[in-house]
Amino acid sequence: MSAIDPRDLRDAFGRFMTGVTVVTGLDGDGTPVGFTANSFSSVSLNPPLLLVCPGKFLSSFNVFSACRNFSVSVLSEGQEDVANTFAGYKGDRFARVAHTSNSHGVPVIDGAIAAFSCRTHQVIPAGDHIVLIGEVTEFRQGEGRGLGYSGGQFFSLGLEHQARDPGARKNICGALIEVEGGVLLKPSPDGYRLPECIAPDRTALRECLKEELSHLGIDVELGPVFSVFDDRSKEVHFAYLLGKATSVNPVSEYERIPFSDLAGLTYSSSATARMLQRFAEEARTRNFNLYLGDLVSGETHRLNEKA
Ligand SMILES: Cc1cc2nc3c(=O)[nH]c(=O)nc-3n(C[C@H](O)[C@H](O)[C@H](O)COP(=O)(O)O)c2cc1C
Repeated sequence: MSAIDPRDLRDAFGRFMTGVTVVTGLDGDGTPVGFTANSFSSVSLNPPLLLVCPGKFLSSFNVFSACRNFSVSVLSEGQEDVANTFAGYKGDRFARVAHTSNSHGVPVIDGAIAAFSCRTHQVIPAGDHIVLIGEVTEFRQGEGRGLGYSGGQFFSLGLEHQARDPGARKNICGALIEVEGGVLLKPSPDGYRLPECIAPDRTALRECLKEELSHLGIDVELGPVFSVFDDRSKEVHFAYLLGKATSVNPVSEYERIPFSDLAGLTYSSSATARMLQRFAEEARTRNFNLYLGDLVSGETHRLNEKA
């Protein structure tokens, strides 16, 4: 076997589906610190133990490697913004996210489906991380579903269940969002992706997309429909809208790719590649068309409005 490329290994590890937690503690001055973690695992019932693996790269690493107490909040469906805040926001994370303090003064995230307050049981050095084992001293849990994470993306079991309902065809709605002479795309192991959501039915496409984009930290004015097509073999209906971003949260995983670079990229699907190729061509004259069809063939209609 050839030498292991850490980026490939990280992608391979990322194929393991997990939940998402926020691990919190207090530094020497009593200031709260925290980070998003999916390395959480339950360990033992008697004694009650759990683990999480803080990386040495964390600004809060010294706190977690020597803390007496910490807590783990398991995020619920819809808390992607909390996960993004604790994964990347550099300002005061706790000023942005509602929380309450446990009996040790350690913050616990409001709305989490479960939260565990822990006394540090053991700290095991492990390469570029440590394994932080905590003994659970208090915990609470609520109703609802947890937020999922797989392949570098958050997912929600609620939407997955709806999509799997045999009575319902799957409806995917996405957007080509312009920002300063570029389009917002997210790099993924399969190639660049457009922002998308799975909508419960076709009447809710626009609403579902707006909600998803606001979770991603992208404020957008959605415009006309750019492409509507069916994947007949998989029974999936796709609709993509044009949009203009009014603001993009800098921690969003989406990148602004200039129009001139769109042709040279690899995309997550051939349909995405074709849409972006047409978008780049039509953006030159700003005469946009609507494509109606399937994956193989269709017709284009001139959009009256200049997007
Ligand atoms: C879904 C997800 C899971 C993560 N899991 C871990 C983890 O288990 N351990 C870790 O050290 N960092 C993990 N990270 C990265 C940290 O959250 C991120 O590096 C950290 O918040 C940066 O904080 P800092 O700016 O204070 O260093 C994860 C990030 C995401 C988005």
